[in-house]
Amino acid sequence: MAVLSFLLSGLLLCWAGVCAAIPDPRQREALMQQEASLQTGGRMALTEAERRLSAHLRKLKQQEMAGPQFPPAMHFFKARPLIQRSPIFSLLQRMPKGAVLHAHDFSLVGVDWLVKNVTYRPHCYVCFTQRQSVRFRFSAQKPLPQPQCSPWLLLETLRGKTDNITDLDNSLIHNLTLFTADPEAAYPNQDAVWSRFEETFLAALGLVTYTPVFKDYFYQGLQELYKDNVMYLELRALLPETYELDGSTHDMAWTLKAYQDVARQFISQHPDFLGARIIFTVHRGLNVSEVKKAVEGAMRLQKMFPEIMAGFDLVGREDSGRSLWYFREALSLPAELGVTLPYFFHAGETDWEGTEVDQNLLDALLFNTTRIGHGFALTHHPLAKELSRKRGVAVEVCPISNQVLKLVSDLRNHPAGVLMSEGHPLVVSSDDPATFGASGLSYDFYEAFVGIGGMSAHLGTLKELAINSIRYSSLSPQLKDKALALWQRKWDKFISENSP
Ligand SMILES: *[C@@H]1O[C@H](CO)[C@@H](O)[C@H](O)[C@H]1NC(C)=O
Ligand SMILES: *[C@@H]1O[C@H](CO)[C@@H](O)[C@H](O)[C@H]1NC(C)=O
Ligand SMILES: *[C@@H]1O[C@H](CO)[C@@H](O)[C@H](O)[C@H]1NC(C)=O
Ligand SMILES: *[C@@H]1O[C@H](CO)[C@@H](O)[C@H](O)[C@H]1NC(C)=O
Ligand SMILES: *[C@@H]1O[C@H](CO)[C@@H](O)[C@H](O)[C@H]1NC(C)=O
Ligand SMILES: [Zn+2]
Repeated sequence: MAVLSFLLSGLLLCWAGVCAAIPDPRQREALMQQEASLQTGGRMALTEAERRLSAHLRKLKQQEMAGPQFPPAMHFFKARPLIQRSPIFSLLQRMPKGAVLHAHDFSLVGVDWLVKNVTYRPHCYVCFTQRQSVRFRFSAQKPLPQPQCSPWLLLETLRGKTDNITDLDNSLIHNLTLFTADPEAAYPNQDAVWSRFEETFLAALGLVTYTPVFKDYFYQGLQELYKDNVMYLELRALLPETYELDGSTHDMAWTLKAYQDVARQFISQHPDFLGARIIFTVHRGLNVSEVKKAVEGAMRLQKMFPEIMAGFDLVGREDSGRSLWYFREALSLPAELGVTLPYFFHAGETDWEGTEVDQNLLDALLFNTTRIGHGFALTHHPLAKELSRKRGVAVEVCPISNQVLKLVSDLRNHPAGVLMSEGHPLVVSSDDPATFGASGLSYDFYEAFVGIGGMSAHLGTLKELAINSIRYSSLSPQLKDKALALWQRKWDKFISENSP
């Protein structure tokens, strides 16, 4: 006689005094489905064609996992050629991904373009620093000497005297990116990689802030995003002074207006692109009074350019910079004056649990941040995590950045895996694609979809991530509706062209 007995709503089957403790498969199935419904995209309704494409993606993912090398487990610099050959990657490139909400002004355009196009323009001078780096400056006459740098050389003259120009150009390219064949040897720790990271920025600075280049650079950056099926950008920008050939300079307002003009021009030539908004950033190495001035500047700019200006943030390495709490007097200024200045703080881009810097996450929320840049440490902070979820403060997850800057090595271990499995508000972004040898958004989508999300992530996940990038943008409700409608048309076309 079989005796049935319910154990924790599972079944305990007994036969002739021997009990099989196998839990009820139906119960198991129900629990698995319930858990799956919690993840990002877990409740997304899929059409028949979408379900077919999702099943196809699942098969491709299984093949990728069965291969001898699994790209998300490898350093991106080594994984890149494998990713480029991946059929999942090529689908992600074609997929309308919505918006890039976390990227920086000096890393939008592939560095090849800077060397092959920009450094070949007339009047480009170069000098060599003591730390094996380069600086550039366009000038009608030889520029004034730069401290800690060799005398300026006209690049055209240098090229004329060089036997192998390809080698020279490759070394310049190398100066502008972290990309290298053996990243583990080149960057043994976070200090080493951050130090080179800052050098790449200084090398690009003199090229990008030359007035005519500045506009071309931004246009080219939008072009790269557009080609990768991204339709909108929120750019963190330092709004540096730009300079002319005669050494005269333009101020911050000029720079912001230049972004606005270029974005408008780009939209007029690409009506299915929605443009860009700017998050004004300053370096977290500044002191309180300097940041106070910057916040005042941000409020002024917001009044002058409400269309393009989205808000304010602090940039630079969190571990070595100052904390948000240190800046509290500056950051509370807008609220005290009754002015709304949205914040988009980088916070929790650290491995150092429980330090002053780690506190930035909670402080970002206390200062009413609109989104959280990185939030890498968020899973260590249950209260901050709950606040972020309740208030719909999305986390901007930048997988490749976190790996290259050595917060995590195998992307299957990225903490956003926890956030994705809980359906936490999040978007995927690229941070500094050119510096990392990436471009557009597809590489980061690949790492998030294949590595961080693993087998759980499906087409519904991708769909929700793309929709999130519009939902959590700084666009007005009307523009969000317009963006979503436009995205949906692109999505439907993508599905009909790619569903098996
Ligand atoms: C320049 O050097 C590269 C190797 O670094 C070589 O492949 C190429 O042929 C050289 N070009 C010339 C013109 O010598
Ligand atoms: C930068 O370029 C210079 C000049 O070509 C070269 O000597 C140096 O090795 C390069 N530095 C890096 C980090 O690539
Ligand atoms: C450099 O880029 C500009 C556009 O940004 C383009 O008009 C020009 O033809 C390019 N020059 C070269 C040499 O590629
Ligand atoms: C902040 O920095 C500025 C410029 O470097 C300096 O003049 C000022 O004294 C500093 N203020 C404080 C409070 O340290
Ligand atoms: C944050 O928002 C709350 C509620 O709207 C408001 O009372 C507070 O002043 C804001 N704080 C800052 C620093 O903006
Ligand atoms: Zn960033």
